[in-house]
Amino acid sequence: MMSEAASQQLRVQRIEWEAEGIFSLALARPDGADLPAYEPGAHIDLALPNGITRSYSLCGDPADRKRYVVAVGLDAASRGGSAYIHTQLRVGQMLTVSGPRNHFPLVQDAPMVVLIAGGIGITPLFCMARQLSQQGRPYAMHYAARNPQRMAFLSGLQALQGAVHPHFDDTAGGPLDVAAIFARYAKGTHFYCCGPLPMLAAFEAAASAAGVAEDCVHVEYFTAKPQDKAGAESSFTVVLGRSGGEFTIPVDKSILDVLTAGGIKIESSCQDGICGTCEVKVLEGMPDHRDSVLTKAEQAAGKSMMVCVSRCQGARLVLDL
Ligand code: FES
Repeated sequence: MMSEAASQQLRVQRIEWEAEGIFSLALARPDGADLPAYEPGAHIDLALPNGITRSYSLCGDPADRKRYVVAVGLDAASRGGSAYIHTQLRVGQMLTVSGPRNHFPLVQDAPMVVLIAGGIGITPLFCMARQLSQQGRPYAMHYAARNPQRMAFLSGLQALQGAVHPHFDDTAGGPLDVAAIFARYAKGTHFYCCGPLPMLAAFEAAASAAGVAEDCVHVEYFTAKPQDKAGAESSFTVVLGRSGGEFTIPVDKSILDVLTAGGIKIESSCQDGICGTCEVKVLEGMPDHRDSVLTKAEQAAGKSMMVCVSRCQGARLVLDL
């Protein structure tokens, strides 16, 4: 899953209103050259001029190598990312963009794919729906928003060949019944979900209750998964496997904080365990995973970790740094 992804300067070529509170941006190289290829589910990190870096899923057509398209929902609790994009970003501005990276890939041999989106969570799933439609593969989309005015890309989805089931909370009198969706599809179906935390929690609980195999359940978090680790903190040692350096990680600092302060260069973006940018290989020791990126199987394997949030189950970790 780990990948190298270089940074580059891209120009904001277009900003478009997609729905209430949702803008899309198209970013292109100033020289018009091709951008690095990506697959549905991939995201890029935008380093904004206000010093904030945010990850956004690519929602355009991967066959279009000339531009990256992302959509940004204005978050009422914005810490400066979506608010900057909605109020200050202008066409023609240059942004430092890193990626693409993909922690939410589309399985290519699934007999049936069900995409469940909530609000701005539509972005990676729109990209998947387009590819599934182009490939003539069976899929269905269940898409929830508060009302039609807040539902981006609906006409684009309806122009594709898969079934689209929109759900409007306001008229339905409540959120999409995610649990009821699982009963409708045969064993072997792959389910993908991206949306707000309550939807993701309902999705994961319902998938588990329905007995869906773990490798058929795919989730993308936009905000960090709640962690139940209160009182579990302790300090530990991180050893750098390549250089031999040794660092103590105190209870109130992350591995990323300590190593960065020690002059070790590690790429990072969200610092919240959701983007995957700071993933580092683990050579020895067992991480205490606190990210929202790795699957349960990947976490159990303990071969890599997100050093912005994850810690150590024991006293010592050796990292591939
Ligand atoms: S910086 Fe985003 S997961 Fe660590």
